Amino acid sequence: MSHPPYVIDELISAKSIAARIETLAREIQGRFGDTDKLVVVGLLRGSFVFIADLVRELDLPVEVDFLEASSYGDGMESSREVRILKDLRGEIGGRDVLVVEDIVDTGFTLSHVMHLLKSRSPARIETIALLDKPTRREVDIKATWTGFEIPDEFVVGYGIDYAQRNRNLPYIGKVRFT
Ligand code: IMP
Ligand code: MG
Repeated sequence: MSHPPYVIDELISAKSIAARIETLAREIQGRFGDTDKLVVVGLLRGSFVFIADLVRELDLPVEVDFLEASSYGDGMESSREVRILKDLRGEIGGRDVLVVEDIVDTGFTLSHVMHLLKSRSPARIETIALLDKPTRREVDIKATWTGFEIPDEFVVGYGIDYAQRNRNLPYIGKVRFT
């Protein structure tokens, strides 16, 4: 599959992301302050930069695990059919869990993952998404915490890709075809 030429326009600066994560981390600490161990679950691959910055702002006993669900493939449209490609390494039964997602778009991915993880009877489970595109929602779900609400634009950077590219940008930008 080849992709037409595009440029990336900055939407959210690295500095704004860092400031927002500090605030979110304080709220998460307020909610989970009494935990003996918080299992922070990153949804691969898009959340890897976000989870790295987020856990370093959390002054809590934290364990990190990852789960990979199938998403867009190489295109720009959700497949609507979510498959688990890589499951957690650890058990979450009776534990406090925070699921970390890059973007909630149609909502299919997060709702599928939450259904699966809740079936394992965690003590508490909450969600955080760096970005939310509320106008795109098809499944009624909202993360407990959201970094930024954004319009219906295809974005990249800060871990998020277009056809596996641009994950290494330090900011969030929108893709504009030229
Ligand atoms: P959903 O299942 O439609 O909510 O899609 C969620 C997943 O789609 C996210 O975890 C992202 O990996 C991917 N996604 C959604 N919007 C974008 C975007 O604008 N750029 C890159 N990936 C996206
Ligand atoms: Mg993706």
